Amino acid sequence: MRIRSNTYEKVCHLIASNIRDKVKHQSHVVLGLATGSTPIGIYEKLSKMKNTNFGDTITFNLDEYVGIDKHHDQSYQYFMNKHLFSNLNFRKHYFPTEENWNEYDLMIKNSGGIDIQILGIGTNGHIAFNEPGSNRYSSTRIVDLTENTIKDNSRFFDNIEDVPTKAYTMGLSSIMGAEKIYLVAVGKHKKEILEEAVHGNITEDIPASFLQEHPNCEVYYSE
Ligand code: GLP
Repeated sequence: MRIRSNTYEKVCHLIASNIRDKVKHQSHVVLGLATGSTPIGIYEKLSKMKNTNFGDTITFNLDEYVGIDKHHDQSYQYFMNKHLFSNLNFRKHYFPTEENWNEYDLMIKNSGGIDIQILGIGTNGHIAFNEPGSNRYSSTRIVDLTENTIKDNSRFFDNIEDVPTKAYTMGLSSIMGAEKIYLVAVGKHKKEILEEAVHGNITEDIPASFLQEHPNCEVYYSE
């Protein structure tokens, strides 16, 4: 695994184009999608691809806060509707929820598995909400968010007290099962953790480091 540095514009263009090509050449594509500021540019590019038919594509989002209404402007469902789902018609889109989190990995498996997974990275090395200490073979579950994550994510809320302390997250097992993974990190504050994840020891302390064991993971960094 190596880090490819490029402008955010180029990284988003490349990933969105690769998704489009996959959807054009394969029926029934399954995408794993991330939230956060990192993938917004990819979703902007995909949203403009009106000539591509995404009607046979299914999406599974990585995570969602526990106890936040899906219409709340900080829910990940709201985020995805705003940035992607209101612009493109997918066959189905799924989030881990109170009703389905226990079956989420099975739903992914039954859909044929994830073809392309987009990932961001937390400043503590989390992927999705697999916080430090997460098992390489963890399944989709409810997790407690770390103080670090609550603090990082408080920038989107009025008060830090409003940030949910628990989340549903896809486990590392389903993420690692994706055929292709794009890990994207944007900003100098992510550089150190990205380097540790890519070049350091493979350890539960930095869940993103497990990606070193993935056979087809591309890593992109933009300042
Ligand atoms: C969030 C999400 C992750 C995301 C990460 C980075 O808490 N659960 O899936 O990758 O933190 O977010 P951002 O892209 O805004 O830096």
